[in-house]
Order: sequence, then structure tokens, then C-alpha cells
Amino acid sequence: MRNFLIDTDTGSDDAVALAMALNNSNINIEAITVVAGNIPVEQGLQNALYTVDLCNKKTPVYLGEDKPLKRPLKTSEFFHGQDGLGDIGLDLKGRKARDGNAIDIIIDKVYQFENNLEIIAIGPLTNLALAIKRDPKIISKIKNCFIMGGTAFGPGNITPFSEFNFWVDPEAAEIVLQSGMEITLIDWDATKKYAWFDSNTIKSINNLNTPLSKFSMDIQNNPKKYKKKKYGNEMIELADPLAMAIALDPSIIIKSKKYNVNIDLSNKERRGENILNEEGKKNTTVILKASRKKFLDIFKKSLK
Ligand code: RIB
Ligand code: CA
Repeated sequence: MRNFLIDTDTGSDDAVALAMALNNSNINIEAITVVAGNIPVEQGLQNALYTVDLCNKKTPVYLGEDKPLKRPLKTSEFFHGQDGLGDIGLDLKGRKARDGNAIDIIIDKVYQFENNLEIIAIGPLTNLALAIKRDPKIISKIKNCFIMGGTAFGPGNITPFSEFNFWVDPEAAEIVLQSGMEITLIDWDATKKYAWFDSNTIKSINNLNTPLSKFSMDIQNNPKKYKKKKYGNEMIELADPLAMAIALDPSIIIKSKKYNVNIDLSNKERRGENILNEEGKKNTTVILKASRKKFLDIFKKSLK
């Protein structure tokens, strides 16, 4: 049995990734920690708790940081909807987090499952960066770290140079990527190439006709409206589900290369940009080629 800790900013793609893991009987999700990003952290908490209930699980969910390490929080309700899950009228309030702070929980769980805990980070890296700063010894005790973030070669989805998670909290991304921890980075380049959902793909997911397949597509309501308005078509990309699918089955990766990655910490147009180096400790595996077929197979299997 694999042990996961998932750190999330519970937007419309995060919730699908959570459902994929929660619905997988081979995974023990030891904890879900919530961070500010797509939406304020309190709403992200409610969305994560809703998803756990929807999957009929008792997985503990913990409240984390409500803003980036050094910068004002910039959220993305324009894309995910005001409630973060497509504004389709879900009951996303009143659920209770487990007592405890996300940073303490990350540290505690790394020690509890020493070298047998895998971290899947699908939001800004504020929580994980603070855990590393508070206790750097956890770096060598984490079995695997799968991160959705960045754009190795670009363009990004929030600026031409950067992707949302790394743009929101570049300082946190720099701390995590430079920690020396072995990281598998599922970036925006891979998302655009392999995790796109056009109307035919969405139809094939809806044809599964399960509560989770319906949920996963219904909450894409706002992203589809946004894409239609901005680009004239409803094709969406589901970044966090790709990261989760790769965490569930890394054989989706066909070709990858390891780099040492720094992050642009300026306040200028390149804020959050990935700076790939071939010198120094090459601890970050960047995906160059992946199997869209395998991704969709795992995606569908996870929502049955
Ligand atoms: O850029 C995509 C990432 O930013 C995804 O994790 C999405 O949920 C947002 O957090
Ligand atoms: Ca996310």
C-alpha cells in the first residue's frame, strides 16, 4: 500500500485529482493539506472536505497557509469560479477541518512514514516550503515528490513565462526545487500536450456515467465558459489530474530529463519562470514525452 500526502489549492482540476486518489483502493491518503492559490484557503478547505465526503472517505484535511511566503495572494476565481468548483451550486460550506496545522502535519507524517511517504503537490508550494524551512531533515525522508507546476519551455498559462502555481509563490517554488529533494515535475508544457479535454474527450468521460465522472466534468463549467469566451472553444486542460495519474503510474512518462531548476524571483514579467540548469544537483525530472492514452485510461479507471 502506498502512502500519499496531497497538498492542494482545491480548484476545479485539483478536486478531480483528489477524487482519482481517494477512489483508488491501492493508495492510503494519510492527509490532505490545503494551501491558498486558486481560491482563498478557507474555500479550498471546504472544497477538499466536500470531495472527501463525495468519495465516502474519512481522510483528514488540514488548513494550511493563507498567503504566499512574501507576496500578496493572487487567486483565480476568474477561471475556477467564485467557489472554485465551477459555481454549479454544490454545498461547499460548513465542513470541519481536522485540528492541526498543515505544516506540522507534513513534518509529522514524513517522520511517521519515514521514506515511505509520497507527496503530491498540486497548488502553490507555500506549505511544503515552510515545512522544509522549519525542518530541513524531512528532505531526505520523503520517498517521492510529484509537483504540478512551472513551464520548462513555455509559454505559461498566467504569463508567457510562468505557470500559475509557481507564479503565485515563486519563493516557495525556489525553496522546494532547490531543496535537493528528488522531484518529478509535471509542468504546463506536459499538461497542454497530454491532458487536454475537448468536447469528444469530455463526452467520453461523461459516458462512464458514474457519480465521480459526472462530478469531474460538471465542475469544469467555469473553465469551459472562460475558454469559450477567450479562445472560442471549450477545450480545457486538467493539470492536476495529469500529475495525479503520473503519481499513480509513473510509466505514463515516456521520456524525461533531469535538471537543476531555479525560479525567477523578480517582480517583473519573468516572475515565476523556470530556469533550467544542467550544472549543479539535477534533482528535478522534467517530462519531455508522456502517453496520453495511458493518462486517459488511468483517468477513466480512477473515476469508475
Ligand atoms: O497552472 C495550473 C495549476 O494552477 C493547477 O494546479 C491549477 O489547479 C492551479 O492551481
Ligand atoms: Ca491546483
